[in-house]
Amino acid sequence: KIIVLDFGSQYNQLITRRIRDFGIYSELMSHKTTAEQIKAINPKGIIFSGGPNSVYADDAFSVDPEIFELGIPILGICYGMQLMAYKLPGGEVENADNSEYGHADIEVTDDKAVMFAGLPKKQYVWMSHGDLVTKVPDGFKTVATSKNCPITSMADDDRKFYGLQFHTEVQNTEYGSQILKHFAFDVCEAEANWTMDDFINIQVDHIRKEVGDRKVLLGLSGGVDSSVVGVLLHKAIGDQLTCIFVDHGLLRKNEADEVMSGLAGKLGLNIIKVDAQERFLSKLAGVSDPEKKRKIIGNEFIQVFNDEATKLKGIDFLAQGTLYTDVIESGTDTAQTIKSHHNVGGLPEDMHFELIEPLRSLFKDEARELGEKLGMPYELVWRQPFPGPGLGIRVIGEITDEKLTIVRDSDAILRDEIAKAGLDKDIWQYFTVLPGIKSVGVMGDGRTYDYTVGIRAVTSIDGMTADFARIPWDVLQKISVRIVNEVDHVNRIVYDCTSKPPSTIEWE
Ligand code: XMP
Repeated sequence: KIIVLDFGSQYNQLITRRIRDFGIYSELMSHKTTAEQIKAINPKGIIFSGGPNSVYADDAFSVDPEIFELGIPILGICYGMQLMAYKLPGGEVENADNSEYGHADIEVTDDKAVMFAGLPKKQYVWMSHGDLVTKVPDGFKTVATSKNCPITSMADDDRKFYGLQFHTEVQNTEYGSQILKHFAFDVCEAEANWTMDDFINIQVDHIRKEVGDRKVLLGLSGGVDSSVVGVLLHKAIGDQLTCIFVDHGLLRKNEADEVMSGLAGKLGLNIIKVDAQERFLSKLAGVSDPEKKRKIIGNEFIQVFNDEATKLKGIDFLAQGTLYTDVIESGTDTAQTIKSHHNVGGLPEDMHFELIEPLRSLFKDEARELGEKLGMPYELVWRQPFPGPGLGIRVIGEITDEKLTIVRDSDAILRDEIAKAGLDKDIWQYFTVLPGIKSVGVMGDGRTYDYTVGIRAVTSIDGMTADFARIPWDVLQKISVRIVNEVDHVNRIVYDCTSKPPSTIEWE
């Protein structure tokens, strides 16, 4: 096991992710974790993540200095490296004359540098920093350099302490994975023996211990995440699990029926379906602010659960399909809020349940792998991600019945054509949005003044970053013609060709 101490970089969980991909168990832990606690866990290695602060800032995240005495290898990445230089005698950190964000070319200057073993001397990396190490601590040497950052990497082979100013965990670093592998396998001598089956066993055990003979309620959204949680819980505690599937009126076409037949019918989960369309839509009437909409939908969801749970009697736990991306983008100890995600935001203070979130450390593709291991059918596992607030955040601004119908029908056509073109597994997520713009068109001989529908399609590995999908023109043309012809009050189709960042995947 290799642990990652969290100093607040938005990429921090990607480090644990890469290491799990090597077959080594890895977990993100608070920077407040003490040397004593780490000793008890006895990891093979420790990684200090990056972070947005300067080590000199008043509120800078620090680390228990005893950690350096444990005899465990340490890798500092970006802020993590600066923190090492700041805490260890002899090191110095200064504000860089030029902050560096993005692509940088580096050169490995030490032939024996273990972190760069077997890799080309010149390579490109992803930098993102305002400070830099200007003097290595006693016992360290500089092993790689770049134009704006003379000490790009430092090493102390005796103590097995290493520092990298760039981010190994992002795809824009040419040899990022290999460098992390050198740390994990060559420096820490960790073994690749962790699999998704271990994850299932650990979680099943954990859930059984935590729940005992009590009862759990799960909100099924229709998406992959909550379905996987449902099946995992069902495996752990069987009929102690009751699922509630709320039809909030913001679901895709035919979705409610598909969920019921797949999960209740085929897999035998105990599911109560609640028709709450009216309740949600009346609360949302007249609201156009995206964050308010998200909060309303999130709150209403919990309220519906409360109502149902009261009817059910004796429920202690609420399970949720929260993934790591939901956690980080809703803000953590160290991360900023980008959007209040449905699964995390909007929980009322007086919530009556304890939370169970067994997928909290997983990315979407890991959740899918888990689903497959649990024997879920292909259609459920490979369902594209669907946000908790549903079509509510795809009708931009105020939600009305008419607008929902346009989004629902146009989305169904898009999905149909993408499937017919055989692209459904290549595109990570694809949907339509209704920006609320009306524009002039001509149909037959008459002028029209009607809605524009936007198509959003992205490729992604984990939802943290995404690229717009290159749907072939002829497929787009078919989609466009069908939507305009088959959906009332639409006279124009536009294609969203922005990536994330700078955009997000959903428009709200
Ligand atoms: P964004 O729009 O933040 O989306 O780039 C990243 C991924 O998360 C999904 N998403 C959500 N999932 N609850 C969810 O369970 C939410 O509130 C939520 N908002 C966005 C989005 O569809 C994409 O897959």
